[in-house]
Amino acid sequence: MIVHPADGLAGTVRVPGDKSVTHRAVMLASIATGVTEITNAGTGADNRSTMSAMAALGVPVHHDTADQVTVEGVGLRGLAAPDAPIDCGNSGTTTRLLAGLLAGANVEAELIGDASLSSRPMRRVSDPLGDLGYVVHTSDAGTLPMRVTGAPRTGDDIAVRAVLKTASAQVKSCILLSGLYRDTMTEVVEPAVSRDHTERMLRALGVRVESSAHYMDPRRSSEFETAPTVRLHAPERLVARPFEVPGDPSTAAFVVAAAALAGASVTIENVGTNPTRAAWLDVMKRMGVGASLRRRRMLTTGEPAADLAVRPGALTATTIRGGEVPLVIDEIPILCVLGAASTGRFEVHDARELRVKESDRIAETARILEALGCTVEVRDDGLSFDGLGEAAWDGFECSPADDHRIALSGIVAALAARTPSRIHDAECVAVSWPECVETFAALGARFDEVPDRMQPVGTIG
Ligand code: S3P
Repeated sequence: MIVHPADGLAGTVRVPGDKSVTHRAVMLASIATGVTEITNAGTGADNRSTMSAMAALGVPVHHDTADQVTVEGVGLRGLAAPDAPIDCGNSGTTTRLLAGLLAGANVEAELIGDASLSSRPMRRVSDPLGDLGYVVHTSDAGTLPMRVTGAPRTGDDIAVRAVLKTASAQVKSCILLSGLYRDTMTEVVEPAVSRDHTERMLRALGVRVESSAHYMDPRRSSEFETAPTVRLHAPERLVARPFEVPGDPSTAAFVVAAAALAGASVTIENVGTNPTRAAWLDVMKRMGVGASLRRRRMLTTGEPAADLAVRPGALTATTIRGGEVPLVIDEIPILCVLGAASTGRFEVHDARELRVKESDRIAETARILEALGCTVEVRDDGLSFDGLGEAAWDGFECSPADDHRIALSGIVAALAARTPSRIHDAECVAVSWPECVETFAALGARFDEVPDRMQPVGTIG
């Protein structure tokens, strides 16, 4: 796909529903009692993977329109064993959350995925599930296929508490979902705060979930002496209620970065502002991006949302490290692109997790930065480079390694270039944001040779 230099982006747009919230909305609605209408559901292929997975487990999931889904809940104990392996596509969240749900619900199943997902680490869920008594097998390499076998082990050595080595909302949520089926309380302790959508949505369905104060104000959580802890008390049932999904803040980050690099004045309506997800905006603000939130409101998912207005400003480099990393884990590639247009040294530390995302995002981000003209010092846990002082790069070529967030980072960098750029295999953006070309075009951007397959294929129900 060819991306032309943007000559001042301006306007008001929306981004699709939050991918993380949509995965959870579909899974929780599936095991609730009653019918759930999910509005503003995520439209990407990853969310389709979760919908197909739940359909394979016997849940009627109806895709009424692109972003409106109705789920007929089968109740906590109503999931049926699938008659074939469940294909989770490219979606780590589908795989890891489902592993916990199936283990707890005592449903035998095998989980498989595409080449990228099949190379990602799964022992991070099979090991703690094993400590909790569940029998979950991965390949010898600790990857997919992952097989969840029925009946859990019993005995005195069965834990009720999982102490995670990495701050990961996928692993925390896996454990919490398994805990819905236990007689005892389940506790998860994290080394740092990760996104808390599962906890909020379970509470919205009437489940007693206690979170330590860290999750209310993650920016201050390093000041606490204890570690972030979540405690779940198993419910008798989940009571269905309508679920409204906020716009995906991780997708909004690409629009805000484009506005900061090539924009005038851009507003994004209905963006999720959950404090465990909004730290990228703090980083952009401290770099000099002007941003303000209006029409703040709380949605039925327990998720806050607001309209976000952005003005460009001169950019200063910053450092991202420690407890801030899990809060901006998906936005680090695009924050680095913004760093390329800043003054000073931009540094990312403690972000080894980026090596095991949909691609090795440290290596792939460095590749984009080098294409823009930066000299990048790459370390195992991050990267450092001097900003170029402004978006002063020529058009470039980007091969995004089949990773949607790398392709989107390339597209935003290309909008700010002086001459046209070529993004190869751009259709991978459909994993999270199939409408990205239309949205940027609505702000004034121009594209050529747009792949036909930007829309995810297949509907459910
Ligand atoms: C997600 C958690 C994060 C994030 C991913 C979505 C979630 O992964 O990178 O895109 O929905 O729970 P980890 O939990 O592995 O950090």
